[in-house]
Amino acid sequence: MSPILAVLSLTAALFPAHGLPSAFFQSRTDGEPQFTEKYFSQVVDHFNFNSLGNRTFNQRYLITDRFWRRSSGPVFFYTGNEGDIWEFALNSGFIMELAAQQEALVIFAEHRYYGRSLPFGNNSFSIPEVGLLTVEQALADYALMITELKLQLGAAQSPVIAFGGSYGGMLSVYMRLKYPNIVAGALAASAPILSTAGLGDPRQFFRDVTADFERVSPACRGAVTAAFQQLREAAERRDYSHIQAELSLCQPPSSAQDVHQLYGLLRNAFTLMAMLDYPYSTHFMGSLPANPVKVACDTMLGGPDLLTNLRDTAGMVYNSSGLLPCFDLYSLYVECADPTGCGLGFNSLAWDYQACTEIEMCYESNNVTDMFPAMTFTEDARQLYCSKRWGVQPRPGWLRLQFWGDDLSAASNIIFSNGDLDPWANGGVRTSLSPSLIAINISGGAHHLDLRGSNAADPESVIKARKMEAELIAAWVKMERVRFRQSH
Ligand SMILES: *[C@@H]1O[C@H](CO)[C@@H](O)[C@H](O)[C@H]1NC(C)=O
Ligand SMILES: *[C@@H]1O[C@H](CO)[C@@H](O)[C@H](O)[C@H]1NC(C)=O
Ligand SMILES: *[C@@H]1O[C@H](CO)[C@@H](O)[C@H](O)[C@H]1NC(C)=O
Ligand SMILES: *[C@@H]1O[C@H](CO)[C@@H](O)[C@H](O)[C@H]1NC(C)=O
Ligand SMILES: *[C@@H]1O[C@H](CO)[C@@H](O)[C@H](O)[C@H]1NC(C)=O
Repeated sequence: MSPILAVLSLTAALFPAHGLPSAFFQSRTDGEPQFTEKYFSQVVDHFNFNSLGNRTFNQRYLITDRFWRRSSGPVFFYTGNEGDIWEFALNSGFIMELAAQQEALVIFAEHRYYGRSLPFGNNSFSIPEVGLLTVEQALADYALMITELKLQLGAAQSPVIAFGGSYGGMLSVYMRLKYPNIVAGALAASAPILSTAGLGDPRQFFRDVTADFERVSPACRGAVTAAFQQLREAAERRDYSHIQAELSLCQPPSSAQDVHQLYGLLRNAFTLMAMLDYPYSTHFMGSLPANPVKVACDTMLGGPDLLTNLRDTAGMVYNSSGLLPCFDLYSLYVECADPTGCGLGFNSLAWDYQACTEIEMCYESNNVTDMFPAMTFTEDARQLYCSKRWGVQPRPGWLRLQFWGDDLSAASNIIFSNGDLDPWANGGVRTSLSPSLIAINISGGAHHLDLRGSNAADPESVIKARKMEAELIAAWVKMERVRFRQSH
């Protein structure tokens, strides 16, 4: 999911490090949103008064008041997810458009243990320091940050709406569940709150990735299946030099483990293109052309040699720069506790740890309900990996207990939006649960397309979805003002 952030580190080149002092005003060219980058002095451990006393760390956030009707306009608060917060801020233009309409203050908060918000600096991923990386701590961070910033900014009377995409969308839901007095409502875009809580079919994710390619043409799915079949036959013959030559690998595979790694790397490329199947080219988690699934299918069906086609398709993800001389099996993709990918670098360590603790992602491909080689990731395999890697035993069922699982009808003011092209969609809430728990379907939409800024290539469905979201949010803001008046 990473849910999400499978190749974040590849984007390092696109979004160069922001090595600027805190509070430095960041400006972007071509009409990009402008934010001030700041740091909030955050409590390291909200739940154990004894362990670290009053120790704090610097948590990064981005803020802009350029649209804000001072002291009474709402606050739009993005509950940052598993990556550098700039990445999300620069790919969530809808929040800025809505802020302009509704005169809102906008804050994008970075999740602890990601980007520059490392509670123990470069030591954050040691054991036991990593132990304070939990969903509960992250939510408490946001609750404290919202409360203190509102005081500092003289915004006590400003209703707060939480926004988030993917895992960030899950966090915006949880904020509304845990702190309904602080957050008046939540827009949870593409938030797989069910599948990551162990609810649902473990085959769903890769089946839905496959469906995207099949939808372009059944022949596309067939070509992918056949390419993997050729690969498997070559592996069974131990014809490793053939595999290396056909797929431009830096090194020939030399074991079943290497072949497994190769399968994972290739499957991950298809996964990303399905998630990021936007109707225009994007620079989110790497660079992709418009309609990448269609382009991938054209590539898979383009040349006479299936393995060459497969290589070029994977190149769309790993070689978007055109500068990659060969595919290095173990540096381009790292297997982790999230079979949809953890990405690379520090952020991937943090996500791997989360996938080893609260977030459950035991998804499998099986070469029957999907087009990929059979690769299972069972709860037993997860237990084994996680105890070895992080010294932890995952607790299946904890997230479900803590954040209500699929028993959400006692909640209110949440929008669950999902695009039908997004393989995460069916891991989320697809039907409205009450008049204030509203599911929105975005036909032709990929992973949180609705959070992105308006684009000439947008399908009608997303234009409609954003309009509906704007109306609901405006109504929640109004309701919250009434509540404030009645309670003060
Ligand atoms: C933490 O507590 C100590 C002892 O009471 C105090 O001196 C220090 O200023 C506190 N630090 C913060 C960041 O509040
Ligand atoms: C922490 O690690 C990052 C990435 O590896 C590196 O760029 C940075 O210099 C390190 N910082 C310190 C203080 O060691
Ligand atoms: C990456 O792209 C360039 C330019 O198209 C190409 O020459 C190179 O062979 C590609 N690398 C791989 C590993 O396919
Ligand atoms: C997928 O299943 C087919 C039919 O059983 C089999 O022939 C093929 O080898 C399998 N492909 C892979 C990559 O395992
Ligand atoms: C959205 O689409 C799903 C899957 O096609 C369907 O089950 C669901 O009823 C739809 N929900 C709404 C709110 O239209």
